Amino acid sequence: MSQGWTRYYDAAGVDPRPTVLAALERFDRESPGARFAVDLGCGTGRDTLELLRRGWRVLAIDSQAEAIERLRAQADLDGASDRLETLTASFETANWPDADLVNASFALPFTAPETFDSVWQRLTSSLRLGGRFCGQLFGERDEWVSSPPTASGDWSSPPAMTFHSRADVDRLLGDFDVEQLEEIEEDGTTAVGDPKHWHLFHVVARKH
Ligand SMILES: C[S@@+](CC[C@H](N)C(=O)[O-])C[C@H]1O[C@@H](n2cnc3c(N)ncnc32)[C@H](O)[C@@H]1O
Repeated sequence: MSQGWTRYYDAAGVDPRPTVLAALERFDRESPGARFAVDLGCGTGRDTLELLRRGWRVLAIDSQAEAIERLRAQADLDGASDRLETLTASFETANWPDADLVNASFALPFTAPETFDSVWQRLTSSLRLGGRFCGQLFGERDEWVSSPPTASGDWSSPPAMTFHSRADVDRLLGDFDVEQLEEIEEDGTTAVGDPKHWHLFHVVARKH
């Protein structure tokens, strides 16, 4: 049972997220070379596959076995499975080794408020000095604050979620040089085409 994600996996694109591309560009500019990345909430692997294409080793983590299966099917096709490790686990319980990059595209907000700070602490402490975090956090005016994604009928119960103010985001990034912090608030649609008011932060940041 994929807790509502199947429709997302069917609809989500395959292009890597601009935030992971921006982080990779910065690594390449500093000193090109493959490194080790953790992809938290990898989904079907749009970002993991790009990292593999660029020669990185990747540990891809997702709570949904379906996501990992769909990722593995593609990674095998790309012939890069020897550099891919996968883990079916939640952010709250997963352990991962120190990394050069922790990527979490549209994923970390699906953490319960009571565990978010410990997950974030785990994430930041796993980054090597000079390593990067990239991904999205959701803002406090996001529509899902008051109307979580049960409405589409995909979820048996609403997923636990955490939303942040701009001040919260600044606090979370205290140990980082912020390389990109783009706050977006707009009416749009979800990946599956439902109308939604988005409030989110796109982040690329380097640990100092
Ligand atoms: C919106 S999708 C994003 C997938 C992919 N990163 C992308 O950008 O398309 C969120 C993913 O995070 C996973 N996820 C949500 N909550 C999680 C949690 N607490 N622990 C681990 N994975 C989680 C879901 O299973 C899903 O695959």
